[in-house]
Amino acid sequence: MNKFARIIGTGSYLPPKVVTNADLEKNLDTSDEWIAARTGIKERRIVTNESTCDLAVVASNKALEMANINASELDLIILATTTPDKIFPATATMLQNAIGASCPAFDLQAVCAGYVFALTTAEQFIKAGSANKILVVGSDAMSRILDWNDRSTAILFGDGAGAVVLSSDQDTGILHSDIFSDGKYLSSLQVNNNFINETGFIEMAGNEVYRIAVNKLSSLAEKTLKECNISSDELDWMVPHQANIRIISAVAKRLNFPMEKVILTLDKHGNTSAASIPLAFDTGVRDGRIKKGDTVLFEGIGGGFSWGSVLIKF
Ligand code: UT7
Repeated sequence: MNKFARIIGTGSYLPPKVVTNADLEKNLDTSDEWIAARTGIKERRIVTNESTCDLAVVASNKALEMANINASELDLIILATTTPDKIFPATATMLQNAIGASCPAFDLQAVCAGYVFALTTAEQFIKAGSANKILVVGSDAMSRILDWNDRSTAILFGDGAGAVVLSSDQDTGILHSDIFSDGKYLSSLQVNNNFINETGFIEMAGNEVYRIAVNKLSSLAEKTLKECNISSDELDWMVPHQANIRIISAVAKRLNFPMEKVILTLDKHGNTSAASIPLAFDTGVRDGRIKKGDTVLFEGIGGGFSWGSVLIKF
């Protein structure tokens, strides 16, 4: 019998330092009006001394607490990140040690689609029967790879972490997952270094990324609902990657899906890359909007491009 991978706990963490649009105005030729109108972002959190692992530890412990399980019960840890603390070892192994787990742990890199890629990967282990409890984390400190003099990217990103605990379940959980990559878009969104030990910064053809994001995410949402034989009316919540309010609204409009049923955190978090979906999901769960039994669609796209969707019954 096919097993489902069900989310039984969520957690998130944001570093305490707040950087508002007004703060950015001091050093960049930009304005709160421009940033808020073009992106929906008002402020973001930025790390000071915290590592990607530090952010992940707090989010993970909160998810484990809600799941009511001990880290020693985990069979696997998957950490989606673009900003690992070291080239090696994997930041996931540092997280494993810090939370007192003893299971295998690895990093997964699919930039802003990292979380949907990680959930999709974790689901395969549960379906195969090779894991029962998996910690899936998205943690990123994108502020470390930003050119703070580039107004077209510096205003967009923030730092944070989100986590979920997945458990095998006979009844329900992840209903459908779908992931894609197309490497021909490398130059549209990348870190501009040539070698892994050379420092680089994010560069992005914002307009092109915007257009492709709307097209890919709208088509994918329609495909996912069709393949699961559910209408957008039957969907309780959308929890999209938080990159731009205009991208999110365009996708919702194409699905004829009300914005009141979209969890939005980008005004306060900015784009936290792999952390954005689990951060938003945890926000919706903890403030009581997302309830057990709700049908929720996660969707994300990022550099590569890589993109994907995961439909769950919570
Ligand atoms: O998470 C990974 C996926 N990433 C995304 O999904 C990001 C997708 N792209 C976007 O969200 C949008 O393209 C941006 C928010 C990055 C840019 O918004 P836009 O409406 O596409 O603006 P634009 O790039 O077409 O620029 C319009 C104008 C330009 O000036 P001119 O050439 O018209 O004089 C830019 O130089 O706005 C200027 N501009 C700014 N002005 C004030 C660009 N950045 C800024 C800024 N403040 N921060």
